[in-house]
Amino acid sequence: MNAHDFTQERFTLQPLSDLMGAEVIGLDLRQPFDPDIKAAVHKAFLDYQLLVFRDQNLTKDEQVVFTEQFGTLERHAVRNRGTSDHPLVHIVSNLDESGKPMGKVRSDKWHTDKSFRPEPSMATILHAQTLPPDGGDTVFVNMYAAFDGLNQATKDKIRSLNVVHSWATSREHEGRPVTAEEKRDAPDNVHPLARIHPETGRTAIFIGMHASHIDGWSFEEGRAFVVELEESVTRAPYLFRHKWQAGDLLMWDNRCLLHRAEANFDARKFPRILHRTCLRGTATQ
Ligand SMILES: [Fe+2]
Repeated sequence: MNAHDFTQERFTLQPLSDLMGAEVIGLDLRQPFDPDIKAAVHKAFLDYQLLVFRDQNLTKDEQVVFTEQFGTLERHAVRNRGTSDHPLVHIVSNLDESGKPMGKVRSDKWHTDKSFRPEPSMATILHAQTLPPDGGDTVFVNMYAAFDGLNQATKDKIRSLNVVHSWATSREHEGRPVTAEEKRDAPDNVHPLARIHPETGRTAIFIGMHASHIDGWSFEEGRAFVVELEESVTRAPYLFRHKWQAGDLLMWDNRCLLHRAEANFDARKFPRILHRTCLRGTATQ
């Protein structure tokens, strides 16, 4: 791994692993990018799937401005606003309504953000606000690499299948059935199981906790297939673990990565708070 020097573009790119991820060094994200910088950061985003910007300190409004440089902000699901006072910035936290750590870390199952939407999220931007002394990592799976690692027969089979992504089903698996209003707000959507990335042309397996079952199969058979596929790919060598530092801002590509938060800290004692913005993607077929 060699650092690429974007001296001309005024930042440096330091790969974080052989699989994925790069640290972008030298940019203050409170300043809007000029077109050359923006194009270079976007290329790095496509090349490395996950960008890490250290030592940032953006307000919610500044995070919105940063995010909007790369596309259209995604709204919240109707009942998923959390405690945010900002309509476009979701607060990811382990706090209860009284503001105390509640022991549970949300989003700890593998998923890609808003995959139940007809136009699933393109990118997620997550900015650390308050971190536990250690742990609370975010872990990623590279679904390009996972697809590439399948044998040819499985690749061919997966290419022929569509998968139903369902907010209602994933909420039920979390033990909280959705209301009729939530179901209307976020109906099920069908996506290709082997998704062609609209910008790179590479193929990624498109599953995660919102992936319910295979379209056209019996629910039981299709559910079993999805669960087994997820279990088979969410492992080394396809994993990358991000250990948070104060000031970190991450930007990742939901079209080719799964992610989850890891509760490897005392979540009853320490707060873990991050600000999230999402960019809307495009239809998958
Ligand atoms: Fe997420």
